Amino acid sequence: MLDGKRILLIIGGGVAAYKSLDLARRLMERGASVRGVLTPAGQQFITPMSVASLTGDECYTELFSLKDEAEMGHIRLSREADLVVVSPATADLMAKMANGLANDLASTILLATDKQVMIAPAMNAEMWAHKATQRNLETLRRDGILMVGPGDGMLACGEVGPGRLAEVPDMVEAIEGFFAGGNRPLAGKKIVLTAGPTHEPIDPVRYIANRSSGKQGFALAGALVDLGADVTLVAGPVTQETPAGVVRVDVETALEMDAAVKAALPADAAVCVAAVADWRMKAGSNGEKLKKSKDGVPALDLCENPDILKSLSGMKKGRPALVVGFAAETEKVVEHATAKRARKGCDMIVANDVSHETGIMGGDSNQVHVISDTGVESWPSMRKDEVAQALAKTIADALTQ
Ligand code: C5P
Repeated sequence: MLDGKRILLIIGGGVAAYKSLDLARRLMERGASVRGVLTPAGQQFITPMSVASLTGDECYTELFSLKDEAEMGHIRLSREADLVVVSPATADLMAKMANGLANDLASTILLATDKQVMIAPAMNAEMWAHKATQRNLETLRRDGILMVGPGDGMLACGEVGPGRLAEVPDMVEAIEGFFAGGNRPLAGKKIVLTAGPTHEPIDPVRYIANRSSGKQGFALAGALVDLGADVTLVAGPVTQETPAGVVRVDVETALEMDAAVKAALPADAAVCVAAVADWRMKAGSNGEKLKKSKDGVPALDLCENPDILKSLSGMKKGRPALVVGFAAETEKVVEHATAKRARKGCDMIVANDVSHETGIMGGDSNQVHVISDTGVESWPSMRKDEVAQALAKTIADALTQ
C-alpha cells in the first residue's frame, strides 16, 4: 500500500513521542521508507539513536550542523519526501507552522517543504482548547495541512479531554488514505455537525431529554472524516465513542449547542443531526429542587429553544455553502420533511420514520429519504454506518459539484 513512498517523520517534544517509533515501524512494514527528524524537545523523550536504528537512516536533529548540512541540507530533506508527517505535533510546533517561524530544523523544513504536511497533534486538553491553539489550527486547516486526531481521553498529565495523540493504526490509515488520493473529495473542507439529544434542566437534578442515541450523527461524522473533511462534532450527552480524527465538543443544552456550533464557524457545511429539545425551562435551573406539595403538580413554565438549523440556513453573511437537516417523523414522512426543508431554509433534509415500530431511534439500522432541490431519493434500509457512508458521499457530491 505504501510501497516506495518516502515519509519524512518530524517528531516533536511530547510524552507521545515514543508512539512515533511504532508509527515508523508500521509505515515501513507497509513498504514506506521513513526518515526521522527529532526536535530538541523530542530528544527529551526519545533518542536520535532509537529513531536511526528503527528507520535505518540518519536521524536529523540540528539546523546548524555542518555534518548534517553537508550530507543532507534542510531543503533537500524537505523535498526528498512524498509526505511530511509531524507526530506528535505540539502546541509549539503548530504555532510555529501557523506563523511561518523557522528557527530550528523542524520548523525550517516545514516552511521550506513543497510537499503535503500532515500533523498529529498531542497536548494537554487546556492547551488544545486555548484560543491561541484553536486559532493556529484554523490557520493550518486553511493552509491545507492535513490533520489526524487528536483523540479524547486520559492524557499523560492525568487530565481527561481532547489532546491524545491519534492511535497509530488511525495515523497509518490517514497516511494510506492520503496516498490513495481519490477517496478524499472533502480534503480541506470544514464541516460542523450536531448529534445526540440535548438535556434541558428542570431543576438541579431533573431534566427534559429525548431518545436520540447519537449513533447516526457520530457515524456520519466518522464517514465525513474518512472522505477527508475536518469535522467538528458538537455532541449532546451520549455514550458514543468519538470517531478517529473528529474534533468533539461536548454540550448539554440547546443553548450550549447553539453557541458551540456558531463558535465552530466558518464552515463549508453544517449538518444538524441532533435531536435538539424544542423547549427549555423559562427560569433556568438555578433554583432549588422542586418538592412534592399538596398544592398539586408543578407547572413547567417552558420557552422555545433557538432553532440551530434554521438560524444557520438563514445566515446573511458566512452561511455554510451546504446546510443539511434531519427530520424525525412518525407519519407522512416525506410530505412533512419536504415542508420542513422549506420552513427551515436548508439545502437538504434527511428524513426518517421514527415511529416506535421501526426501531430506528436508538437502533442499528435506518431507512432514509434524502430531500433536496433535485427531488426525493428513498434509500433502502441499511445499517447506520452504511447510511453514514452514503450520506457522506452525497454531501461530498453536493459540496464539490
Ligand atoms: O423542527 P425539528 O426539530 O423537527 O427539525 C429537525 C431538524 O432541525 C434537525 O436537523 C435538527 O438537528 C434541527 N434542529 C435544530 N435546532 C432546534 C431544533 C431542531 O438544529 N432547536
